[in-house]
Amino acid sequence: MARKTVRTGMVGAGFAANLHYEALMRVHCVDVDVAGVYAIDADMAETYGRQRGVKVYGSLEGLIDDVDVIHVLVPPVAHEQIAVAALARDTFAVVEKPLTGYFGDGSEGFSGRTFSKEKMREEALSSIDRMIAAERGSKACICYAENWVYAPAIQKEREIIEKTAAQILWIHGEEAHSGSHAATYGFWKFSGGGSLIGKGCHPLTAALYLKRVEGRTRSGRPIKPASVTARCHALTNLAAFEDKGHLRSDYTDVEDFSMTHVTFDDGTVATIFASEIIMGGIHNQLEVAANNHRTICNINPNTGMCTYNPVDEYFSDIYVVEKTGTKQGWSNPAPDEDHFTGYPHEMEAFYRTIAFGDPLEGDSGLAGDAISTIYSAYLSDERGGAEVDVKTY
Ligand SMILES: NC(=O)c1ccc[n+]([C@@H]2O[C@H](COP(=O)([O-])OP(=O)(O)OC[C@H]3O[C@@H](n4cnc5c(N)ncnc54)[C@H](O)[C@@H]3O)[C@@H](O)[C@H]2O)c1
Repeated sequence: MARKTVRTGMVGAGFAANLHYEALMRVHCVDVDVAGVYAIDADMAETYGRQRGVKVYGSLEGLIDDVDVIHVLVPPVAHEQIAVAALARDTFAVVEKPLTGYFGDGSEGFSGRTFSKEKMREEALSSIDRMIAAERGSKACICYAENWVYAPAIQKEREIIEKTAAQILWIHGEEAHSGSHAATYGFWKFSGGGSLIGKGCHPLTAALYLKRVEGRTRSGRPIKPASVTARCHALTNLAAFEDKGHLRSDYTDVEDFSMTHVTFDDGTVATIFASEIIMGGIHNQLEVAANNHRTICNINPNTGMCTYNPVDEYFSDIYVVEKTGTKQGWSNPAPDEDHFTGYPHEMEAFYRTIAFGDPLEGDSGLAGDAISTIYSAYLSDERGGAEVDVKTY
């Protein structure tokens, strides 16, 4: 039988578009033909297309009409519109995190810090509803690109939960580093929030996923988030903050620190920390405390390799690990960072779904639960940490 070819379009030509392209080059189950790229920034699209020999499209619709799947690799504010446009044409949409959110009322004076979180939650839930409705009316679907779900450590933990029928009592997850690179990050109107949504969505979604796995294993019914309490802070915006130049600190109207406590419908809990104030490279970790085992998933840094380098410049042309401030001294170089992060694994899984209809773990319901939990958490923060219910999908 002839090997299947899937025609792919990239929407966006920045950081995520690069990592998706690299991961697509490692897909085995089909031949991936990256047929084109479209981005609002025409220069970025031009450079991206030239470097990879990929056709540059002048319109989103033109690209969608030529491919089987598009990758939505643009700031969160545009995820819904682009995914819905693809689904309406029965084209699959691989959508980066966060699925969607609330991005302001368009007014000049809009500030994410002061705008009503109740209203934000209502609008974010409407956005999820619209995306899921578009999916229901389509022959294609949303593949939610939450790489933590597919990270090998999380998938190994899934196996442990399934094979031992483990009961998870507490999950503690954290994503932190010294600040996002994207120019649009730091503005609620583009990102839909700060650390809680931008970084917290990773460990949160992995936690929701593992409780879903536990539920379907032990009772055939997913365990869902029921309520949440949270606090958010803008630490680098404090008048007393002394900027030494090691942390990004130009956030406009978003938080740079968040802690979230999720209670599931079985009474068990997850705590999720996310921040932009951690030096020393990315800190991505998820710990599971179960009734029969304990697991620590070190997504990044990963101690598979430890190197001591006495002089920073020796490693000037060596990639060590994401967002490390210096290459001098001890470090944990990532021999294959993308592998441990789960990027190739999510693409392999998505293309199996797209080409052969395989069941999907990173689906729109999981993505919707994550966004719903996050905006309930913002509402909790506005109420000083009061408990707020979570709608699920
Ligand atoms: N999973 C991960 O580890 C990970 C890492 C980084 C970014 N992301 C996600 O990827 C997405 C993109 O982030 P990034 O860091 O690549 O941003 P970026 O700023 O590097 O690139 C954004 C690109 O989108 C284009 N763009 C903006 N609005 C558009 C629109 N309406 N239509 C078409 N093109 C548009 C820009 O021209 C640019 O090429 C975000 O949702 C982000 O949360 C995920």
